[in-house]
Amino acid sequence: MRSSGSLLVDNIGELVTNAPGEGEGGPLGVHRDAALLVEDGLVAWVGPARGAPAADRRVDAAGAAVLPGFVDSHAHLVFAGDRAAEFAARMAGEPYTGGGIRTTVGATRAAPDSELRGNVRRLRDEALRQGTTTIEIKSGYGLTVADEARSLRIAAEFSEDTTFLGAHVVPAEYADRPDDYVGMVCGPMLAAAAPYARWIDVFCERGAFDVDHARAILACGQAAGLGVRVHANQLGPGPGVQLGVELGAASVDHCTHLSDADIDALAATGTRDGATSTVATLLPGAEFSTRSPYPDARRLVDAGVTVALATDCNPGSSYTSSMPFCIALAVREMRMTPAEAVWAATAGGALALRRDDVGVLRPGARADLIVLDAPTHLHLAYRPGVPLIRQVLHNGVPQ
Ligand code: NIG
Ligand code: FE
Repeated sequence: MRSSGSLLVDNIGELVTNAPGEGEGGPLGVHRDAALLVEDGLVAWVGPARGAPAADRRVDAAGAAVLPGFVDSHAHLVFAGDRAAEFAARMAGEPYTGGGIRTTVGATRAAPDSELRGNVRRLRDEALRQGTTTIEIKSGYGLTVADEARSLRIAAEFSEDTTFLGAHVVPAEYADRPDDYVGMVCGPMLAAAAPYARWIDVFCERGAFDVDHARAILACGQAAGLGVRVHANQLGPGPGVQLGVELGAASVDHCTHLSDADIDALAATGTRDGATSTVATLLPGAEFSTRSPYPDARRLVDAGVTVALATDCNPGSSYTSSMPFCIALAVREMRMTPAEAVWAATAGGALALRRDDVGVLRPGARADLIVLDAPTHLHLAYRPGVPLIRQVLHNGVPQ
């Protein structure tokens, strides 16, 4: 829904625009003592609070910080059940292998549409309350033609960025004939899923899909008009990142175990402002929840790789919808500066989704923004676990 009439967000102490060359310079494009005008759901004007245009309505930011809404570019929201017992076992020392995915597949197949839809709505709303105004949603817990198609049909009710992840794992009924499963994913499953999907993704990992299967599946998706993203290098070193680069993926996600050659390959795809770069999307909620070593974000940023942060929200490896939590982890555990982490959770996510209308507050962009209960974006990492999202505007509409 878009708002009608104009709305002025006024009295902003610190406005993060992510518009390069704006404000104080630097990637966050910070303006002090600013105002922002919304018209027809879009940003119409940004400038100093003194001299702001008149508007039909006003939101008083009371000197607080205002940021673009978070862009969560990696989430698995279509599922039934949870795996709290698996989490407890991990905290007692069990390793994470991805084997629990099949548990969620069983629960998801057995659930009616209404239960899946209710779950997506609950998680989407939970994310929105924490400042996420754009969220990518993957399938991947259906793994039959009908269950993948319905997962994406439901996902498309909530997001423009839906991702076909029929190649999440080989389901039990195909365990001894993975080639047949890959053929099915590339044939009838892709045909049923593609009308509801913008992206295709593969879990390229030992125990899931090897590089040849992953390449075949991603190439079929590309031929059907879908953009490429890859679950890569999560549980160990492997070929996923380089495969993503080879295929021009918008994003390679997890990137927990990277070689120098992986980082060089990513860096060679472009820089932060390069619209065609392959983004490294880091998912620190997964390392937190599987008690794994965190990816080295500092090494990636210093090498010139475009980095995004996302939640990976799913019932197995990362059951959080909180981008502020991921920002705090990235700063504390992955050696990002607060500014880098905030940029990665907004503009970085937008680049990972090849979107130029979100993750930025400049005239013409969507009026998706958050008013913090804090004077500066630094507080997102400085005050972990504190509900700092005072107000969210989505398409210019206060939520
Ligand atoms: O991104 N790694 C593959 N998929 C998910 C986990 C899925 C699950 O454990 O249910 C991830 O971490
Ligand atoms: Fe994931």
